[in-house]
Amino acid sequence: MNNKIYKYILIDNSIYINTEQGVIDLFINLYNMKPFSFFGRTTRSEVFNRLPAFIIRGLRVLQFIYEFHKKRLNGSSNRVITSHFFGGVMLELRQGGYKIFNLKKQEVMTVFPKQMPLLEIEERIRTTREAARCSLAPKVIKWSVAERYLTEEYINLKSPLYSFDNREKLCSEVFPILENILLTTEPEVLPFETYTRDKVIHLELLINRLQSTTNETISNVEKVKGFISLLKMRLQEYSRQKEIVLTFSHGDFCEGNILIANQSSRVIDWNTLGSRSFYFDFYHMMFKVGRYENMDQQEIARYREELEAGVELFYTKLRENANFHSLHEVNELNSFAVYRYLFYIELIILKLQFTGFSDDEKITRLMKWIRRIEVFEKVDAESYGQIGKSIAN
Ligand SMILES: Nc1ncnc2c1ncn2[C@@H]1O[C@H](COP(=O)(O)OP(=O)(O)O)[C@@H](O)[C@H]1O
Ligand SMILES: [Mg+2]
Repeated sequence: MNNKIYKYILIDNSIYINTEQGVIDLFINLYNMKPFSFFGRTTRSEVFNRLPAFIIRGLRVLQFIYEFHKKRLNGSSNRVITSHFFGGVMLELRQGGYKIFNLKKQEVMTVFPKQMPLLEIEERIRTTREAARCSLAPKVIKWSVAERYLTEEYINLKSPLYSFDNREKLCSEVFPILENILLTTEPEVLPFETYTRDKVIHLELLINRLQSTTNETISNVEKVKGFISLLKMRLQEYSRQKEIVLTFSHGDFCEGNILIANQSSRVIDWNTLGSRSFYFDFYHMMFKVGRYENMDQQEIARYREELEAGVELFYTKLRENANFHSLHEVNELNSFAVYRYLFYIELIILKLQFTGFSDDEKITRLMKWIRRIEVFEKVDAESYGQIGKSIAN
């Protein structure tokens, strides 16, 4: 660590800029930072949006630098983060802490929040290093628990945008990535009943430990409990299922955590790494690209068909892949409904375990997922009451 302190000022969209930086360097750096979609975004102006993408980006970066210049001159009211660590651009993270981008060295440093216990930092570093076993994850360069940081390889690629009804693009880009993640470690085969029972017990434990402070949370917790009863009941219908395959899983696999170009693709943000049921990351991605909060009934029906066709296609592709040879004996990998229900259970566990949020926030975030799932499964909170009663009897 050096003794010098760098000052980063907030400009826009959680992006901070190191004040010791010439505007020309800054322009070149920001213009070339492909992972920052913020600078490529269109605006409310139709005329502006019709310009070629490279001009839109150039103008947005210029506007951003002008803001930086203004803020640097009239100092006092700026939001500032100071740090011993050097870089050009800093990004404040949603769960606290920040990332510093050093483009000359092609490195990204994650600086963990001040209030994060050292044990948790150690765990986060261990997880990121474990994730680096997957060839798509950024390489880990260096770290220090005491100094609260971890430095990874900077990957200068762009995040993709998918639409659920563009099956071809989704499959050709996402399937190879998923296959790579799935093959990182040897899959594990467990008895279905034991695995499901343990997960449900774990989930119920997490729910009972929640501390609600608002009436809304209390009522939402009831809804989550109802939803879990429904899942338990549905899973009971599959008593013939013998085994379940667990694999290396990213846990937050979505467009924003993929960086891609023609020939190469990478995956970032592995905090949620874990061992989960086979299709977890597949379903996570598919539910995220659904965006069906605003769809009408007809579109939702089409989405459902696409998802079902998608998972079958994925399964077929895997069977053609020689690397999955050892899994061919597990016939039950095509019990898609079982794996979908397990995905829901594992997802709720993940959302409830997440640190850095209060219980109220966790529930609010979880409810967004539950609503998505309710639409997909054609169930709603009203019917849970009935289910809850029938289970109690
Ligand atoms: N190794 C990396 N290379 C390039 N960009 C990265 C890298 N890690 C993170 N980023 C950029 O920083 C953003 C936030 O990082 P991420 O780890 O995804 O945190 P969050 O939990 O906030 O999503 C990403 O969306 C991406 O734009
Ligand atoms: Mg992310």
